[in-house]
Amino acid sequence: MTLIQVPKEKAPQAHPNVMIIFGAGGDLTSRKLIPALFHLCKDHLLPDSFAVLGVDRLELDDNGFREHLVEQIRDHLGETFDGEVWNRLAQRTHYLQGNIDDPAMYLRLCERLTRIDAERSTEGNYLFYMAVPPRLFGGITSNLGAVGLTTETEDDWRRVIIEKPFGTDLESAIALNRTLHETLNEGQIYRIDHYLGKESVQNIMVFRFANGFIEPLWNRHHIDHVQITVAESVGVEHRGGYYDTAGALRDMIPNHLLVLLGFLAMEPPNSFESQAVREEVNKVLDAIQPMTPEQVLTHAVRGQYGEGIMPNGDKVPAYRTSPGVDPASRTETYAAMKLSMDNWRWAGVPFYLRTGKRLPAQYTEVAIQFKRAPFVMFKDTEVEAIAPDHLVLRIQPNEGIQMSFGAKIPGPSMRVGTVNMDFNYADYFGNEPATGYETLIYDCMNGDATLFKHADTVEKGWEIVQSIMDVWSALPPRDFPNYAAGTWGPKAAGDLLKNDGRLWRRIATPEATNQG
Ligand code: BG6
Repeated sequence: MTLIQVPKEKAPQAHPNVMIIFGAGGDLTSRKLIPALFHLCKDHLLPDSFAVLGVDRLELDDNGFREHLVEQIRDHLGETFDGEVWNRLAQRTHYLQGNIDDPAMYLRLCERLTRIDAERSTEGNYLFYMAVPPRLFGGITSNLGAVGLTTETEDDWRRVIIEKPFGTDLESAIALNRTLHETLNEGQIYRIDHYLGKESVQNIMVFRFANGFIEPLWNRHHIDHVQITVAESVGVEHRGGYYDTAGALRDMIPNHLLVLLGFLAMEPPNSFESQAVREEVNKVLDAIQPMTPEQVLTHAVRGQYGEGIMPNGDKVPAYRTSPGVDPASRTETYAAMKLSMDNWRWAGVPFYLRTGKRLPAQYTEVAIQFKRAPFVMFKDTEVEAIAPDHLVLRIQPNEGIQMSFGAKIPGPSMRVGTVNMDFNYADYFGNEPATGYETLIYDCMNGDATLFKHADTVEKGWEIVQSIMDVWSALPPRDFPNYAAGTWGPKAAGDLLKNDGRLWRRIATPEATNQG
């Protein structure tokens, strides 16, 4: 195969600003945010007039904070750590020790920012990053508001990035949006869903709208159904306390899986302006019919893993024995569902979604199954039995696109086999290390909200799953655990498709040896 290496685009530097991280001593800062800034710094995408200010309770000064970070990011970046790049970033990294519940701390924050601003010429632009639990978002923003730090003028901007979960159901999401809107305009709020930071997710739009041959096929006339799989082989690790109150449905579907679905099903936006893209995604979410309680019983499946053996031979314990998890927990670690859309393009095309922990592979893909050709001329040959054509968008790992279709097996008789055409991102664009946060942070610095969620999008996501959450909480599961770790989920998930005369696609990853 001839490989064409496509050079990376040379993007301009971001606007001058100070990025203030609340929760600077936490995991997110050292695992994602600082490595993302490191990569931006390496690519010269951070402006010269830039500083980071970490805020946390830890008793540290600027140097202490830099030392605290460097140890951790060395671990995270491994061989890609580069001392010269780190020094450039470290020189612009500062620290403020304080309690984020204390209103007096925000006066000190003001003074500190005024000083940094003068030293670094950051033009009074502040990006506040909430790397803290969601219950603290409201308090921090109102404290910032009280000292005038959320007030923009014609010459400077103030933006706030918040992380999921955006509420725990529709009601709490509405309440959170209301609280944020007390201090901030919607245009100042950047809600991160890290799936929107993945190149392969953004590529769904490019693949669909930049290639003339795809769009004519992308509708109910040619597509039989769509499967979205977000499989995780990991368990809940050290997050049992959070996960046990959330579960697979809340944790993954209204956010990450609906991001994928939105880009797959949207109409072409008039432009790639944030407003235009978000409107089209919202129309898709509006077209998804919330399930009636009866439909929840037949169209949605939940599961929890018991102990089992992973494809690599590791024996893993049941979810209920994970640290922080109730030993009698009824929280689902697997969710699958069939969604339908009431619109012109997708009427009658089911979208099947599945996600779960401790499945046999760490793998995310979207599979489009096309309608079968009318097999008239192949009547009474083996050809009738061939697999339907698929287009698979591999989101992670090994980002790429695969098309499988029938081809004649050489020989005198008419025999058809399934063959694959495969495109791997890395073959063309190389394999640059990235956390997924680089583009999002860079976009926020430039005021581009296309890859962030509007309040409406978040609420629409919750509306879609609310009926499922209502039925599931009213009827606690009686059969948990109902799938063994290392298998593809409960039997009912297979039945969900079998009842429609379909099958989940066999995931062909090296570790995935069995398909339930
Ligand atoms: C997070 C969920 O939002 O996404 C986790 O809280 C999940 O439970 C993670 O593991 C999956 O993200 P990724 O990028 O590994 O697919």
